[in-house]
Amino acid sequence: MSRVLAVVVLCALALSGAAFAGEPGFAPVEPASPNAEGINESYYWVAIFTGAIFVLVQGTLVWFIVRYRADRRTREMDGAQVHGNTNLELAWTVAPVLVLVAIGSFVFYKLPGIQDVPAADRVEVSVKGYRYYWNYTYPNGVIAVDRLRAPVGQTTRLEVSAPDFEVIHSWWIPALGGKFDAIPGVTNETWFNPEAAGIYRGQCAEFCGTQHAVMRAEVEAMPREDFDAWLAREADAQEAGTSDLGEETFRGACAKCHGLSGEGDIGPRLSGNQLLADADAVEQVIRDGRNQMPPVGKDWEERQMTALTDYLEEELLGGQR
Ligand code: CUA
Repeated sequence: MSRVLAVVVLCALALSGAAFAGEPGFAPVEPASPNAEGINESYYWVAIFTGAIFVLVQGTLVWFIVRYRADRRTREMDGAQVHGNTNLELAWTVAPVLVLVAIGSFVFYKLPGIQDVPAADRVEVSVKGYRYYWNYTYPNGVIAVDRLRAPVGQTTRLEVSAPDFEVIHSWWIPALGGKFDAIPGVTNETWFNPEAAGIYRGQCAEFCGTQHAVMRAEVEAMPREDFDAWLAREADAQEAGTSDLGEETFRGACAKCHGLSGEGDIGPRLSGNQLLADADAVEQVIRDGRNQMPPVGKDWEERQMTALTDYLEEELLGGQR
């Protein structure tokens, strides 16, 4: 008996240890945006009840195992016959109702803020999920891949979707708010307001294919002036064709499957591939896909396509010509 008890106690300790150890435990990451705070508070509120219920049920289970052991009673002998207990039945009906009311009211009170995007002075960005990268478009036409830049202390409103030839992905930066599915043809709206400068990491949260695991996303929160300066500089550079968009697009859209020397493990190696020198051929493969390869950039704007083909010509084949 004492051995069973010891196992139960050890398991409980291990579980609670893991739960409060933070990463990589069960505890959510520190929130860094008001909407993420609402989600975190709800998580802990629900955890109080589920924790108490867990202890109650498991404690009762152990107690029953000890208290009602058959001992020397033979298999054929019935135990005590119990019929009905009004107070107990009332209690286990009313208690769950109260628990659900407590959880429900808290959530309804705390979470509407997730949908109501603060209107004042906000930055708008379109977020689109592709296999296996995120494409962002700012109102001034600037395009970015995987890393989203945003100002600190100001609302950034995201329109999350996916092109109609894509599969479903899910946008999720845990410290900045909940998951929002990127569904072809549907636009979901979310927002964040980072409290501090820094890089917040996330991961596509909907299984979307072989490279789902490397479909990461980052938000780089920077002071407002730096953000404005970056956005203006990037707009000029992208119009002039001197930005890093080509390299960024290559890393996000190509390298995860191919890798320069086939490190991507999925597509063929790219270095030394003569097709890469032919911008039209590259564009055709990217727009139409080929064999296993999805049309990763079917709806890219011309500036992104040109940035990529220029990058491929310069960087990958530069040494060979
Ligand atoms: Cu995109 Cu998983």
